Amino acid sequence: MTRTLRGALLGAVFTVALGAGSAMAATIKVGVIAPFSGPFATAGQTFKQGIEVYQAQHGKTVGGNTVEFIFKDLDQANPAQSKALAQELIVKEKVGYIAGFFFTPDALAVAPLIDEANIPCVIFNAATSAITEKSPRYVRTSFTLWQNTVPLAEHMAKQGIKKVVTAVSDYGPGIDGETAFKATFEKAGGQVVDTIRMPLKSTDFAPFMQRIKDSGAEAIYAFLPAGPTTLAFAKAFNENGLKDKGIKFFGPGDITQEPDLPALGDAAVGITTTFNYSQAHDSEMNRQFLAKHKELFGSSDNVTFTSVGAYDGTHVIYKMIEATGGKSDGTKAVEAVKGMAWESPRGPLKIDPNSRHVTQTIYLRVTERKDGKLQNTEIASFPDQPDYGYKAGK
Ligand code: PHB
Repeated sequence: MTRTLRGALLGAVFTVALGAGSAMAATIKVGVIAPFSGPFATAGQTFKQGIEVYQAQHGKTVGGNTVEFIFKDLDQANPAQSKALAQELIVKEKVGYIAGFFFTPDALAVAPLIDEANIPCVIFNAATSAITEKSPRYVRTSFTLWQNTVPLAEHMAKQGIKKVVTAVSDYGPGIDGETAFKATFEKAGGQVVDTIRMPLKSTDFAPFMQRIKDSGAEAIYAFLPAGPTTLAFAKAFNENGLKDKGIKFFGPGDITQEPDLPALGDAAVGITTTFNYSQAHDSEMNRQFLAKHKELFGSSDNVTFTSVGAYDGTHVIYKMIEATGGKSDGTKAVEAVKGMAWESPRGPLKIDPNSRHVTQTIYLRVTERKDGKLQNTEIASFPDQPDYGYKAGK
């Protein structure tokens, strides 16, 4: 452990222990690392809004301790910068918790720090299965590619689709999606005729569209990180004539996330996805969640999977603070939420005690226009889906 880190930790423990021992109210700081600027700023903005909706509904104190969120901007996948920000949060800000993370490499980079500092890290998005294997301090409230892809591949096989091409961003979650799809679809009797891996920073998708056409596939399975990348890919699919050719478009729901639907327009219509959250989810709790969002921010149009990832992640952090009485004890905090079950705007959630990832309902959705507005309409549900990728092949 570095000297600065150890010194800061002693400081953090001392401050909090004083507060708890003398029944003085302490301030528990939670550091959130996410893109708040640049092309993926929607992710950070929706994390922040998800936290604020939770705090508006449940208050800003837990057992007399005030919960304060500190936001650090990391505009892209940049593991070195992620580690530096986490170090700063731990050493300078003396946070008791780390949270956020849109991109997998940024979440992975902090594993040694959260281990050394014994600080829980609640992941609001980063979706590669292996992350939670890298430290016992990780807990994740989003989804994994395995979790969304297994039910999707089974559904596609049941539809009688025989030949599929996969097209994924060439990094952790994309490779998980490709692996999960191929394993599940081929087991169900289908054939993956080509596996296309696209550089994470691709902006020109025309060459990949040609390869998809040439593959002879009836359908594609596509994963890219939600934002400008998914938008450009889905548009290129239409503009290069793949939709007109009758190739069916499937993927995890990142590709049709709500904030992008107005820009996607008719290109989104008919895309079939599996995902953990749709703004159109029909439940009282989701209606209340959206209403509070609208009350606070004037609109709920951008509410998406990253909003609920953060909202539910905040719930988990509150439970950890409650269980530790505000004291800094990462081991006890994580133990306390293993097996925890609750109702979310997306449906029922439970933290699997082994993977520390949420078991949840995955929905089959189709993107369509309703009353003039594009939405992801849930048409079937697959309850109690675990992270099929946790220690897959180990
Ligand atoms: C990830 O890097 O894990 C990631 C990013 C964006 C998504 C999904 C997964 O939409």
